[in-house]
Amino acid sequence: MTTITNDTNWWKTASIYQIYPKSFCDSGSKGTGDIQGIISKLDYLKLLGVDAIWLTPVYQSPMIDNGYDIADYYSINPDFGTMADFDELLAQAHQRGIRLIMDIVVNHTSTEHHWFQSALGDKQSPYRDYYIWKDPVEGSVPNNWQSKFGGSAWELDENTGQYFLHLFAKEQADLNWENPKVRAEVKEVISFWAEKGVDGFRLDVINLISKQQDFPSDQIGDGRRFYTDGPRVHEYLQEISESVFQKYGSVTVGEMSSTTLEHCQQYSSLDNKELSMVFNFHHLKVDYPNGEKWTKAPFDFNQLKQIFNHWQTGLNGKGWGALFWCNHDQPRVVSRLGNDQEYRVEAAKMLGASVHMMQGTPYVYQGEEIGMTNPGYTSIEQYRDVESTNMYDIMVNQQGVSHDDMMAILAQKSRDNSRTPMQWNGDEYAGFSKGQPWLEVAGNYQDINADNAVEDSDSVFYFYQKLIQLRKEVEVITSGNYLDLYPGHHSVFGYQRQSNHQTLICLNNYYGHESECVLPKEFECEKAKYLLGNYSDLDCDVSQHQVLRPYETRIILLEHSI
Ligand code: GLC
Repeated sequence: MTTITNDTNWWKTASIYQIYPKSFCDSGSKGTGDIQGIISKLDYLKLLGVDAIWLTPVYQSPMIDNGYDIADYYSINPDFGTMADFDELLAQAHQRGIRLIMDIVVNHTSTEHHWFQSALGDKQSPYRDYYIWKDPVEGSVPNNWQSKFGGSAWELDENTGQYFLHLFAKEQADLNWENPKVRAEVKEVISFWAEKGVDGFRLDVINLISKQQDFPSDQIGDGRRFYTDGPRVHEYLQEISESVFQKYGSVTVGEMSSTTLEHCQQYSSLDNKELSMVFNFHHLKVDYPNGEKWTKAPFDFNQLKQIFNHWQTGLNGKGWGALFWCNHDQPRVVSRLGNDQEYRVEAAKMLGASVHMMQGTPYVYQGEEIGMTNPGYTSIEQYRDVESTNMYDIMVNQQGVSHDDMMAILAQKSRDNSRTPMQWNGDEYAGFSKGQPWLEVAGNYQDINADNAVEDSDSVFYFYQKLIQLRKEVEVITSGNYLDLYPGHHSVFGYQRQSNHQTLICLNNYYGHESECVLPKEFECEKAKYLLGNYSDLDCDVSQHQVLRPYETRIILLEHSI
């Protein structure tokens, strides 16, 4: 039996696996994943070598936004199982030395939550002030803020004549953090799960909780500048950290929407006053021309390198970041920045190496470790995501974008691209469920699946296993500083990590043609060694002049003499 250690900084050498339960594994034939399904796959995760699981929401929810609309923070959605199943998952994960991180969504609740149900239509309700209500302005919405899922961020409560704020779907009402009772409830929710023994929390869109209280209309944007990294956000996080996170020794990762480096230095500052680490998304907007997500565009390679450089150098010694490409809101990276055809395996490995050799804590999203791809849906009926269907309606029915253009955009940008059922084997429904899945399985499951990957020693799976292992063995990956070696190179992303004892270089060719680069002079010595690559014949001495094959990655280590 493996046990969990007491090391409070365990997450600095850890890799974390994200599970989106609805799409992970169904223990029966419902067509939606469940907690027993997760338990049945813990040995697979153990083989991969991950240290912790981040479980996206499994609470009671009407599932308008697949669980990010919580109706009861203290109970498990029966679609996923029972509290007894959850307790078993926690115990079984811990037995294998795997920690568990819960997803906490406290910027908003479902409108089905009893707080909101009591507040709705009743200005005297004790819960009315748990939410954000405003009178109409000139007979219409209080300001021009836009929902992140399209349309106005305000919804009218006909009975009281006031609007409530929802930065996401209209079924997700924003909580009023100015109210100390709301903050007390949040602390109670988190304490409840910490008492159960969960090891940490991922905090959903946590930098949006503090809104500028005069709620001005935005003349130059969609309103986000009035609530992103808002006026009291640091104060709120410190309050929760002091009374809950520090008390339980929980690891915490905040999801930071449209944030800045300066704020993230503070959120994740090394004195641990707020959070352990942060997710930021700037590197995943390199295919949003002028910030526009809903358009089809190639990615900007130079911008990608600049963003990594900015965050890697900016957080070093000041804070801590999460390293990731994929999650349940992002398309599959191998389809997005790599190649999901001829060079799928090479590209998946190269992209994995690109982020795993940086400073931070890597997150692997289910299926990424076997190189799963976007499914390439061709019909709007195949999509389930509330954001995708809202945007289809707005862009096609209201703005006149053609159906075909919108289908091409969704095939590239929809969140459903990463939510297709996990591909376990070549059986019907990819072994995900015995019944028809809630979202269609990608057509390539007979080729790309976990069984095939585990049988093939050269698979993406074993490459990820090595990346996870290297972080534990090679000190410079955790501690070294960061230098972009070829900022202007058109196809190679190469960076160096350096500590007192070691220098590591990670070279990555992002394109399907050969690319050349020259190593720093000190690498011209016998001590430099290839640690890992994605082409099998890389066993020769390191030469200064490097010729990288399509989507090739090479990781090179130099131990310094002491
Ligand atoms: C986060 C979640 C996303 C959800 C949104 C609203 O961005 O990752 O899935 O829709 O918050 O809760």
